[in-house]
Amino acid sequence: MRIAIVGTGYVGLVSGACFAELGIDVTCVDVNEQKINSLLQGVIPIYEPNLDALVARNVQAGRLHFTTDLVSVLDDVEIVFSAVGTPPDEDGSADLRYVLEVAKTIGQHINHYVVVVTKSTVPVGTAKKVKATIQAELDKRGVQVPFDVASNPEFLKEGDAIDDFMKPDRVVVGVESEQAKELMTKLYKPMMLNNFRVIFMDIPSAEMTKYAANSMLATRISFMNDIANLCELVGADVNMVRKGIGTDSRIGNKFLYPGCGYGGSCFPKDVKALIKTAQQNGYDMQVLQAVESVNEQQKNILFRKFSQHFQGNIQGMKVAVWGLSFKPGTDDMREAPSLVLIRSLLQAGCRVSAYDPVAMNEAKRILGDSITYAKDIYDAVLDAQAIFHVTEWKEFRIPNWEVIKRSMQPNPVLVDGRNVFSPEELHDITYLCIGKGE
Ligand SMILES: NC(=O)c1ccc[n+]([C@@H]2O[C@H](COP(=O)([O-])OP(=O)(O)OC[C@H]3O[C@@H](n4cnc5c(N)ncnc54)[C@H](O)[C@@H]3O)[C@@H](O)[C@H]2O)c1
Repeated sequence: MRIAIVGTGYVGLVSGACFAELGIDVTCVDVNEQKINSLLQGVIPIYEPNLDALVARNVQAGRLHFTTDLVSVLDDVEIVFSAVGTPPDEDGSADLRYVLEVAKTIGQHINHYVVVVTKSTVPVGTAKKVKATIQAELDKRGVQVPFDVASNPEFLKEGDAIDDFMKPDRVVVGVESEQAKELMTKLYKPMMLNNFRVIFMDIPSAEMTKYAANSMLATRISFMNDIANLCELVGADVNMVRKGIGTDSRIGNKFLYPGCGYGGSCFPKDVKALIKTAQQNGYDMQVLQAVESVNEQQKNILFRKFSQHFQGNIQGMKVAVWGLSFKPGTDDMREAPSLVLIRSLLQAGCRVSAYDPVAMNEAKRILGDSITYAKDIYDAVLDAQAIFHVTEWKEFRIPNWEVIKRSMQPNPVLVDGRNVFSPEELHDITYLCIGKGE
C-alpha cells in the first residue's frame, strides 16, 4: 500500500515513520525545503525520542521517502494524509489556510481515486470544505475523478509520540463512504490484529472528538490548578488531595497534576478554537472559557510567588530557569510556560540563566541573547538568588543540593512549578511550590 503524508512536522513525520514501520510505502511531503533537505541527509529536524532510528531504518528499507513535490507522488498513492499546521487565527479560530492549500493542489492534480484524510486538528465542517475545494478544482479542469474525504485525528503526545502511535488507546476514523472505510481498514489492519480499537464514525463526530479530548484534558489541568490555589489559602496540600481523588476509579489518576499552566502546540489553540466554534454556532462554552482564564493566570504563578517572597525587590537579581520546553521529552516551546515566566523576569530587571536538555537551540531562536544559556543545571545556578523548576525533566530529579546551595547567593529560593522536590532534601534552600498551604 502506498500513501503520502503532507506536512512533515511532529505529527506528519512520526506518523509517516510509524506507518512505514508497519510495512506501508510512505512519502512525506513538506513545502519547507530546508526540512526535507535535512531529512534527505538523515538529519531529523525535531527532537522526539527514538525517532531518528525509526526514520533511518525505514529510509534504509526503502519504505520512507521525502519530497517537496506533492504532485509527483499523487499518481502513485491510494491515501493522502494532510498533517499540516492549523495555527490559531487572530480571533482564536483554527487557520485552515494550509489544509485548504493542500486540498487545492490535490484537486488540481489527481487522476485516480484517492481518499484525502485530514490528520491535522480541524474544526467540525472542515472535511466539507476540503471536499468542496477539491471538487471546485476538478470542475475547473472539467474532469470527473472520484475521491473521498475522511477524518483521522491524531492523539499522539510529543515525547511519547512513537509509542502513542504504535500502541494507541484508540484510532478514530470519520468516513462517509464504504470505499473509504475499506481503505482505512486496510491501512490500520496491522493495528487491528493487535486488538487496538479503530473506531469508525461519521466525519463531524471524528473532528469533534479531537477537540473534546484535548479540552477535557485541559479542563482537568485548570481544575487542579484552581484546587491547588484554594489549598494554599485554606492550609491543605494539593498533592494529598490529588492522591485522594485520583484513586477514585471514576476519576482516575492521570492529568491531575497542578503546575504552572498548560502550554504546547495543542491545548491552548484547541481550547480557543472550540470556544470559537461554539460562538460561531451561537453557543457559549462557559466551562472552557474558565479553563482558559485559569490557565492564563496560572502561567504567572511562579513569577508571582518569587516576587512576593522578595517583596518585589527583585530588580538586578540573577535567577536560574530549569527547563524550557513546554513539557519533558520534546524541544517544542510553543506556548511554553517558561516563556511567560522569562518575559516577566526580564521585564522586572532580572538576569536569567537557563538550561534545558534538548530545547536550547529552540530557546536561542526565540529568546536570542536576552538570557544566558547554561551548560547544565549547576552552571545555571552560579550566583543565582532563585531557581525556577519549570519543566520536569527526569535528569533534574536528584540534584546535589549541597553543591547547588554553595554556588548560589545567600538565602536562595527554589520555586518548584512541578511539585517534584521536597523541602527536607534542599539543604536550607527556601522551597516554594504549588498548592501547599502553611
Ligand atoms: N504536535 C502535536 O503533539 C500534535 C498532536 C496531535 C495533533 N496535532 C495536530 O496536527 C497538526 C500538525 O501539527 P504539528 O505539531 O505536526 O505541526 P508542525 O508545525 O510541526 O508541522 C506542520 C508542517 O506542515 C508543513 N506545511 C504547511 N503547509 C504545507 C503545504 N501546503 N504543503 C506541505 N507541507 C506544508 C509545514 O512546513 C510544517 O513542516 C496540527 O493541526 C496539530 O494541531 C499535533
